[in-house]
Amino acid sequence: MLLFVVSSIKAQNPLLIPVTLTGPTYNLTIDYDSVMIFPGIYTQSAGINGPILGPVVIIDKGDVVTINVDNQLMDTTTMHWHGVHLPSVMDGGPHTVIPPSTTWSPTWTGMDNASTMWFHPHLHHKTYKHIMMGITGMIINKDTDESALALPRTYGVDDIPLVLQTKVMDANYQFDLDMDNRNMDTLFLANATRNAYFDAPAQMVRIRLLNGSLMRSFNVGLSNGADFWVIASDGGLLSAPVQMNQLLISNAERYEILVDLSALQGSSVDLMNFGSSIPGGVYGTAQFSTMGQVQPIQDYDNNPLNGADFTMLTLNVGAPTTNAITSAPTTLVTVNAWNPANVDVSRSFTFSPDGGMGGPTGLSGPFFINNNPFDMGVINEVIDLDNIEIWTLTNQTMIAHPFHIHDIQFNILEIDGAAPPAHQAGWKDVVLVPAQMGSVKFITKFEDFADPVIPFMYHCHIIGHEEEGMMGQFTVVENGSTAVETIETETFSIYPNPATDNITIQLIKSVNQDVAIVDMSGRIMFKENLSQKNSTIDVSKLSKGIYFISINNTTTKFIKQ
Ligand code: C2O
Ligand code: CU
Ligand code: CU
Repeated sequence: MLLFVVSSIKAQNPLLIPVTLTGPTYNLTIDYDSVMIFPGIYTQSAGINGPILGPVVIIDKGDVVTINVDNQLMDTTTMHWHGVHLPSVMDGGPHTVIPPSTTWSPTWTGMDNASTMWFHPHLHHKTYKHIMMGITGMIINKDTDESALALPRTYGVDDIPLVLQTKVMDANYQFDLDMDNRNMDTLFLANATRNAYFDAPAQMVRIRLLNGSLMRSFNVGLSNGADFWVIASDGGLLSAPVQMNQLLISNAERYEILVDLSALQGSSVDLMNFGSSIPGGVYGTAQFSTMGQVQPIQDYDNNPLNGADFTMLTLNVGAPTTNAITSAPTTLVTVNAWNPANVDVSRSFTFSPDGGMGGPTGLSGPFFINNNPFDMGVINEVIDLDNIEIWTLTNQTMIAHPFHIHDIQFNILEIDGAAPPAHQAGWKDVVLVPAQMGSVKFITKFEDFADPVIPFMYHCHIIGHEEEGMMGQFTVVENGSTAVETIETETFSIYPNPATDNITIQLIKSVNQDVAIVDMSGRIMFKENLSQKNSTIDVSKLSKGIYFISINNTTTKFIKQ
């Protein structure tokens, strides 16, 4: 493995500013490519409409949008609209697969308030790999409440998208896709750019922070020690800007901040990660091994980013623009938080390590929710449409977990028994649950979308934890209707692939499944009920080419040689 040395190398690469796409129809193509992160070296990557990351998708509230997601990978994937309030069938969770060489076209009405959201793959056991390779994009939701405010909003000028990520690199400067090496995320990238700088105007600039890392939290601040203003959290604007000096942002969280560069024309200031001030138990803190009876974690302790203060982006300040915004507004929007007096149901979720309190190291799971590892076939919670619910999350592990729920935005009621700090008092879809008996209470309403079959997910957004089972799923049902307790998605594997004469289909969950082999034009070439876990199918008569094998809702590509 390659050790990236944290150094004071001057920022030398212009920050990648993704192109924007506006609606009502958006075309996204996921494909492999390569990027030059290190001079003269190509790193194999995957991206959306480009070699790495993706365009920024701009959605106006009230518009009906259609997004065509064309999967050109050799792998099945999914595309999840993180934070977006939409029907579960459009949500792009693990059940809504996009087989290779196919296009998935979800459509929905934009209901979200002005906010910064994002999209990323969510196929169980492939999420880590696909995000590591670079498949991540930002969504900017717009509405008229936001546009009525005096805020910076000239994209790429005073309104800057900023995806914060770390990557694990192997000895050949390639993304290391092996999840076992995940604690060696030694390379920091801002919008997929190493040592990035941005030429900013001398005025108030808005930075849309997205922590798109697989594991790491960041503690954002400025190298000159100046304060900045947090104006928005995951689901939209706060009621008023919150003046802060350092801001912890865990995986999948978004915050929009205003940074005042008015007095800095001709100089530069760095957006820093103040890792030395990251609290204990949060991935990115100096050392886990000093806590309690936990043993040293070699990879973690050797990772130079842990506990380090380093530059994430250098802002080189030039002349202001005309009509520059020079101050933060005093108020923003009304946040109509849900009222605990109206709660219908309360639920509790406990995070614990597999095999007792503590575990051999504080970092490694697997971690489970309510003692159950994730099971694609089990619906963990069934929720009545329009329920107002309070969820209490309790963390019995040594590491803080960024908990995320699909479908809705919530209001945090308590963190460790106390009211949340002002910057976390707005709309959220991720909350970091503190380590070692830390707890969080939030309130939300499950409105608008019911579907008794297709679930939404809740999970830890440390992707290694999610992949190892720290995830659950819920359906929202119309009052009185019966929910499906298990879902019919079948997971299976086929081998060999490509094949010439026979393929073997192995069912992972249950037998008596109908299998269909379909050609590229949709013709069914073969159909049979599989009554055994392993079945061999004669494919020798099929002509050479690409076929799709479907079992229930799951489809995979098969190549006949
Ligand atoms: Cu960012 Cu379940 O997702
Ligand atoms: Cu999500
Ligand atoms: Cu976790």
